[in-house]
Order: sequence, then structure tokens, then C-alpha cells
Amino acid sequence: MATEPTDPDPATLCARAPRPARSSSRPLVPPLDLSVVYCPDDLSHVDGLSDGSATGYIYARDGHPNAAQLAEKLTRLEQAEAGWICASGMGAIAAALLSILGQGDRVLIAEGMYGRTAALVERQMSRWGIDHATFDPADAGSARAAMTPNTRAILAETISNPLLRVADLPGLAGVAREAAIPLIVDNTFAPLICRPVELGAGLVVHSVTKMIAGHSDVTLGAILGERRLVEPARVLASTLGQTGNPFESWLAMRGLATLALRMERASSTAMALARRLEAHPGVVRVHYPGLESHPDRALAARVLGNSGGSMITIDVGSRERADALIRGLAESIPFAPSLGDVQTTLSHPVTTSHRALDEAARARQGITPGLVRISVGLEDPEDLWDEFRTALGFPE
Ligand SMILES: Cc1ncc(COP(=O)(O)O)c(C=O)c1O
Repeated sequence: MATEPTDPDPATLCARAPRPARSSSRPLVPPLDLSVVYCPDDLSHVDGLSDGSATGYIYARDGHPNAAQLAEKLTRLEQAEAGWICASGMGAIAAALLSILGQGDRVLIAEGMYGRTAALVERQMSRWGIDHATFDPADAGSARAAMTPNTRAILAETISNPLLRVADLPGLAGVAREAAIPLIVDNTFAPLICRPVELGAGLVVHSVTKMIAGHSDVTLGAILGERRLVEPARVLASTLGQTGNPFESWLAMRGLATLALRMERASSTAMALARRLEAHPGVVRVHYPGLESHPDRALAARVLGNSGGSMITIDVGSRERADALIRGLAESIPFAPSLGDVQTTLSHPVTTSHRALDEAARARQGITPGLVRISVGLEDPEDLWDEFRTALGFPE
């Protein structure tokens, strides 16, 4: 074996990677592994890494330690068998769907899904010969009625956006089971609150960008579920260049450390805020799964347990009043069309997430110009209420 010269030229010294730092103790915090490539010892080691008989990595797009650590945690949290980290929530949804569906197949998607998910199915997958039909996520019978012999998957969100309807996951899992096809659940709005695998989902996807990472500085997604379904999705995600990167996986792991505390706090504040908003004369309607007035309250109790989650959507009656509310809160509560941040943020579905839908489609789904979606954060509940009450411009 050739050894390095004892006194190499500076150019050689500069160019070569340093030797691994020697330490008999381990870091408390996961190290950040930015390496794009990992060096096998020899050709049989490459064979072993490729066929899985040796553990390790070769090329970061096909796997790296930071994504593997995050995937392992999320897999355990969702009670899944396997997991994979993707470059975004959309990357995860696309990889999950496209690893199952091919030309001539059909997918059933819940009405009122996240706009880009609907656009992926309706505008992109349709070009590749993949058909779709929609169903009411709170009514498993409507999914059964839409089933055809070429239907290969059912896709629903645990809590829909922006009206926060709750999907009948046990019922939908039953329909999927009868047809021997997977139920895929986007659990972005309900991490820790709901475990779709326990309710019968074959795959769970997350926009890790939201509550899981929790600080609006990470764009990532996750696919979790049965190994036989995750494995082809992993291969497809890697082939499409959709693997999550090390730094964002590392940041998401840091965010994940406080997920349970954040979800608990944000959900209890959301419950209190929803009640007060419901009693306010300036608010026409409050959509919150924890309220008695929510159309899916009984279902929510089964699917979400005793939490209503951290999202509230209110209807203040018109685009003008929604605009006034957003402007009135601008100093304290940002208009930021995302969700799941440590601070409370607002979104206006008609002009942001559901902008691509035409007016008739929005009206069919009940997405009115006066809707304002609130992603509740970790502020003091009384401070939040004072700000909303003042901005709504009516006495309590
Ligand atoms: C429910 C839901 N799923 C998926 C996504 C897509 O996630 P990402 O923005 O990480 O691609 C979003 C984004 O807002 C979402 O709200």
C-alpha cells in the first residue's frame, strides 16, 4: 500500500482531506455530515454497500447519515417500518404516488387537498396517463363509490387545508384494504396528534417544512410506512434527485427535539383562541376541529384524540375584511403563507394556496374570499387574543 510522503508538497497537503479526528468519546449532538461521497475500502466493500450486506453510504443522493437519523426518528414516531427523507413535502408526495401509479392507473384524491398536490395529480400526472377521481374525505362511502378496477391508491390529508376537515382514516383504510391498494395519508397538519399507520395507512407523507422542523428555515419532506412501499419510493426519489440534504435534515432533527412541546402548546392555545374567535361578532365562522360546531367533531375525536391541532381558519365575511385583518395584525402576526412556525402566522387561501383554482372550484369547496388561516404559534395566549381582538375592530 502506497503511503503519503513524510514531507509532502504544500499542494498535496492542501488538496488532501484531513484524517478523521481521533476521539474515544462521542459527540452529544449528531454531527453534520456534508460529504457528497463516502469511500469504500475496496470493490467487495462496494458490493456489500450496494446489496445491503454492509452498512454505510456511497453517494449522498442515495443516502447519508443526517437523513437516515431523521428518517429513523420519524419512522418510530409514526410507528412505521421504514422511512425516507425527501427534498420537500411535494417531493415526498410525488415520489410516493409515482412509485405506485403508472399509465392507465387511477388514484382517488380527497376533495380540498393542498393546491399543489391537487395540481400534481390533475395537471401533471394526467399528462402521463394517470387518471384521478375525488371523494369526500369525511365519507369513506364516497371513496368506495369512486373505486374502479384500475384504482391503485387513495390519497387523503388527516386535516385538510384550509377548512380543516378531518378524514375518516379508519373508514378509508377499510376501503383501501378491500381493494388491496394502499391508503396514503398526508399527515402534515397533525404530527404526533394522529398516527395514520395505526389507523391502517400504508404510507404517511409529511411536509417536514412545517410543524416538524418548526422554524421556517427548512424545506424537507418524509415518506414513512410499510417497507415494501417505502423502498420503491426511495429508489424513485433518489432517481429524480429528490433526496433531502444533510444540513436541512440536521436542522429538522434539531426542530424535532421540541415538536411534542410545540404541538401541545400551540394546540391548547388554538383551542382557546378558536373559542374566543367563535364568540366574536366580527367573525362569521370558525373552522377548528376541536370545536363542537365543527362538522367532523365526532370523527375528529376518533382520529385526533383530544387535540384539535394548531391550525384555525376563520371567515371574516369578505376579502376587504380579510385584508383589513391582515393589515391590522401586520406589526405582530406576519402574513406568511406557510405554517407550523414557532410564531403565529396568517395566510389567505384564496390569494395564496388556492390561487390556482378558478372561482367556481373554490366556491364548490367552500373556499371564500373572507377566509384567513391562522397557524398558531407559541406566544402567550392572552397576548395573541388582545392582538386579534384589536385587529378585528369590534368589541368582544
Ligand atoms: C398539507 C400539505 N402537504 C404538503 C405540502 C407541501 O410541502 P412542501 O412545501 O414542503 O413541499 C404543504 C405545503 O404547504 C401542505 O400544506
